[in-house]
Amino acid sequence: MPNIVVVGTQWGDEGKGKVVDVITPHVNVVVRYSGGNNAGHTVVVGREKYVLHSIPSGVLHPGCRCVIGCGVVVDPGSLIEEMESLVRRGVTLDSNLFISKNAHVIMPYHPALDRASEAKLGARRIGTTGKGVGPAYADKAARVGIRMADLLDERLFREKLEANMAQKNRLLREIYDAPTFSVGEILNSYLRYAGWLAPYITDTALLLSRWIDSGYSVLFEGAQATMLDLDHGTYPYVTSSSTTAGGAVTGTGVPPTRIHGVLGVAKAYTTRVGGGPFPTELTGPIAEAIRARGNEYGATTGRPRRCGWFDSVVLRYAARINGLDTVALTKLDVLDQCETVRVCTGYRYQNEILTDFPEDETTLAGVEPVYEDISGWMSPTSGVTLEADLPAKARRYLERVEELTGVPLCLVSTGAVRHDTILCEDSPLLRWFPSVRSSLF
Ligand code: GDP
Ligand code: IMO
Ligand code: MG
Repeated sequence: MPNIVVVGTQWGDEGKGKVVDVITPHVNVVVRYSGGNNAGHTVVVGREKYVLHSIPSGVLHPGCRCVIGCGVVVDPGSLIEEMESLVRRGVTLDSNLFISKNAHVIMPYHPALDRASEAKLGARRIGTTGKGVGPAYADKAARVGIRMADLLDERLFREKLEANMAQKNRLLREIYDAPTFSVGEILNSYLRYAGWLAPYITDTALLLSRWIDSGYSVLFEGAQATMLDLDHGTYPYVTSSSTTAGGAVTGTGVPPTRIHGVLGVAKAYTTRVGGGPFPTELTGPIAEAIRARGNEYGATTGRPRRCGWFDSVVLRYAARINGLDTVALTKLDVLDQCETVRVCTGYRYQNEILTDFPEDETTLAGVEPVYEDISGWMSPTSGVTLEADLPAKARRYLERVEELTGVPLCLVSTGAVRHDTILCEDSPLLRWFPSVRSSLF
């Protein structure tokens, strides 16, 4: 049974939640391997809209086992709220959610430090989600972090918390001039959370290994995206985790030899939230039209997303870094009213044309996109489920995207709901999940 990684190829919000939801009926397990509640993955089922932050998007399918891997950072208060809100809406969570003992915990001082450090950065601020994700990963790397298992051992938790608080409170007070925290209050609330979450905390790497041994199929749900990866993204304007396909290995404990393929999710255009370079960014009426039609406002923070044209330099880079076997292209319908659709084929830098994404900040700051113009289809594609029913010009656009990225498309999404999905001819998904055709029609 295939184990497949789903990864964002741009700057996030490509529609990973929808794609994971479409594939989930064909797998037994969905595991999140990176990020935290900075993610916002939307799944629309009929008239119901769910935004998942820390819980894998597979949760909406009864029987799917959902795992929060060791590469994730967990804000227990936010996770419990998310769980309660799902349960109120009739979603089952009792026996199908598993949280890694080794996942690091977001403590109340992490969001405080996140916001204080952003304020200090001024014009060079990253534009984080303010959820404390960066400071939590910083503590993990500095080997002072608190892990989920620590919460279950009161003595050890108190010891680690006291050691941390002495330093964090000084940092908050003396460097950032920000309010401090009391050990007692944090201890009380986090021990309560620990009691609540204890039944879910386990050795998820061992579970995953056993499940794979017994023939289960696992989907790795990426959060954020390639260009936000700590090593491979547009550093320092990135998140603090390994969002790329490699993160699926370290973030779960499943070895690379047990992963069979990588599916990239890309929007038919590009968006970015927060600061940092964005070569194909648009301003003015076209950007506004795309933002309005695509409802491009952050699922976690509500911030308006920056919008721009599809960038094949970014996609080729994502294909190389993640080893993409195939791409699911989303939100084609958002471009329905564009007279001309532009695709970036390369970057002009000084007197050169770059076709490979430049990794250094200085070069990236000086690039100008080179565009190819494609005639817009100017007719509705919303809800189309067959490639043959797409306007010829939209099909031409898809062909050009495939040619420029060098990766075959498996799915094209034409709306937010599950069934607004086209399964491409010879879709690589059929190789992994032969029954996907019957589930989409
Ligand atoms: P994720 O973080 O990658 O899961 O993506 P988000 O959920 O943050 O953002 C994607 C948004 O686009 C969500 O509101 C989805 O419901 C919506 N969406 C997904 N696919 C499509 C599509 O093909 N067409 C349209 N119009 N909306 C879509
Ligand atoms: P999903 O999984 C889009 C961005 C933030 C900021 C940078 C660092 O829904 O695609 P952080 O809070 O992680 O330290 O912020 O990363 N960012 C996202 N942008 N989608 C996301 O998640 C994001 N998660 C973080 O806007 O620029
Ligand atoms: Mg999102």
